[in-house]
Amino acid sequence: MVVLIVNSSPRVGGNCDLITDFIASRFEREGLRVDVVKLREFRISPCMGCRECLVRASCIINDDMKVLIEKLLKCRALIIVTPVYFNNVPSILKAFIDRTWCIRGRLRNKVGAVVVIGRRYGHELAINAVISFYLKHDMIVGTRGIALYAYEKGDVVNDREGLKDIERMVYRVIELLRIVEGGITSLGNLR
Ligand SMILES: Cc1cc2nc3c(=O)[nH]c(=O)nc-3n(C[C@H](O)[C@H](O)[C@H](O)COP(=O)(O)O)c2cc1C
Repeated sequence: MVVLIVNSSPRVGGNCDLITDFIASRFEREGLRVDVVKLREFRISPCMGCRECLVRASCIINDDMKVLIEKLLKCRALIIVTPVYFNNVPSILKAFIDRTWCIRGRLRNKVGAVVVIGRRYGHELAINAVISFYLKHDMIVGTRGIALYAYEKGDVVNDREGLKDIERMVYRVIELLRIVEGGITSLGNLR
């Protein structure tokens, strides 16, 4: 598996689900393998700050984060698709982020990208929360973070400019993967 897409929307059939499918199809069209994870289907308890992971290099909490950590360690690129909640990311994504403390140092040089979807306010703060997470892990962030504007289920298909930005993001992530893996240095002027 190469590209892991983590969708943190609690809502079934909403805009994040649509965009997650869209991104997956674009990577697959370029021949990459994709794994999609919907955080709402996993039990993720909050980090307790016990710091046991400093001693044993793994988390003592016994929940579904074990499965997700395996996926994180295996992927080459991580794409987070998240709704904006109260000008930030939803609590389930924050719990996921905090629980990766036990694998710090082990996501180094994986490629990270983020797409946030909200009605109108707080996109940049949500993008910043995810990019800070990537940078804390020494991941490679080669795209600015995409803001899509949508509220009701399905609205996101009307954000044509945002959808184009996602296509560019997919090519940029592929370019970075090739660079990191020692292949070609550039795809040229991306579409
Ligand atoms: C609890 C909650 C808080 C929200 N807060 C914001 C917000 O701060 N800014 C914003 O632009 N949209 C906000 N929204 C709207 C959602 O981001 C928007 O409906 C988005 O499409 C949700 O993703 P989904 O369709 O995958 O559920 C909020 C929605 C909910 C349910």
